[in-house]
Amino acid sequence: MTAINYGGVIKRYSDFLPEFDEKNIITILEGNTPLIKSRNIGKKINPHIEIYFKYEGLNPTGSFKDRGMTVAVSKAVSDGSKAIICASTGNTSASASAYAARAGIKSFVLIPEGKIASGKLSQALVHGATVIQIKGNFDEALSLTREITGEYEITLVNSVNPYRVEGQKTASFEVVDELGFAPACHILPVGNAGNISAYWKGYREYKDAGNIGSLPKMLGFQAEGAAPIVLGHVVKEPHTVATAIRIGNPASWKKAVLARDESGGVIEAISDDDILKAYSMLAQEEGIFCEPASAITLAGLIKLNGRNYFNNGDVCVLTLTGHGLKDPNNAIKISKEPVVVPCDKKSVLKVMGFN
Ligand code: F0G
Repeated sequence: MTAINYGGVIKRYSDFLPEFDEKNIITILEGNTPLIKSRNIGKKINPHIEIYFKYEGLNPTGSFKDRGMTVAVSKAVSDGSKAIICASTGNTSASASAYAARAGIKSFVLIPEGKIASGKLSQALVHGATVIQIKGNFDEALSLTREITGEYEITLVNSVNPYRVEGQKTASFEVVDELGFAPACHILPVGNAGNISAYWKGYREYKDAGNIGSLPKMLGFQAEGAAPIVLGHVVKEPHTVATAIRIGNPASWKKAVLARDESGGVIEAISDDDILKAYSMLAQEEGIFCEPASAITLAGLIKLNGRNYFNNGDVCVLTLTGHGLKDPNNAIKISKEPVVVPCDKKSVLKVMGFN
């Protein structure tokens, strides 16, 4: 397929997705994201496995949410819906508001006050969403949106909307189409648990279609302060530096457990310190800037590798779910401050080490 013909995930994977009238397809040409082979980190961690990054930060609004949003919003438009709503830790709201803008319908987003990375908040605002900050967390926001959509004519576009999951499963298709086979392991962050469920659905559908002979192990990671699936109970007050996955009661909990168990994988917890270490490694050793929540995949791989989890020759794909620019404050906070010098060559050369 040449780039010029690329029409977004609904067109590319029409055999596996619901059908829409051409006029109702709302796309910003999401998907078709790069699968980047590790150049440096893989060699250092374990030279006997192959590591690939599925860089979902290069979607139109900077996260994987666009794959699901194109399908959910196309469905809403097909059904004559005039408004959509979501609860969000940031990325869903960014995506929903952009796709609503393109469709010419309204969007309402409920976010936990003060817990959204600034890039994401700026997106919802600039796309014209009605942004409602609640004095509560994501889980409480989601239950409010479910109540409201039960009573009013407005479409819920969180991943409890099955059309979202349909779109998101296309990332598995792309991985297989690129590699030519299914990886041994697929590693994902787990928040509301929609994405790991979607990837698993995608891999299974590709296997049923005869496109792959094997299925990957699904390896999911939650932040230690927001790890309900790992703990086996709801976390009332989730906390983590990875605000995207600050979720204590995931809507797709059961589906994620099924993906883990059917695939023979794991879902484990990672500390904020290890998340931030992986975040810096990706930026400084691979040149890939992703969100802290996305970097949990690398931290998870490092953890499992430490107990010899992988077999020689394993191909591991890590989904980097969102772009680092979403959360610039965090990047600046953990980095060295830039120096300020007088405007003369001598001072500049001194900082460069050319004395
Ligand atoms: N990574 C990023 C960057 C996310 O924004 C999210 C979820 C996840 C991982 C986890 O995916 O929820 O399908 O398990 N963000 C949602 C939001 C909750 O509102 O933007 P999940």
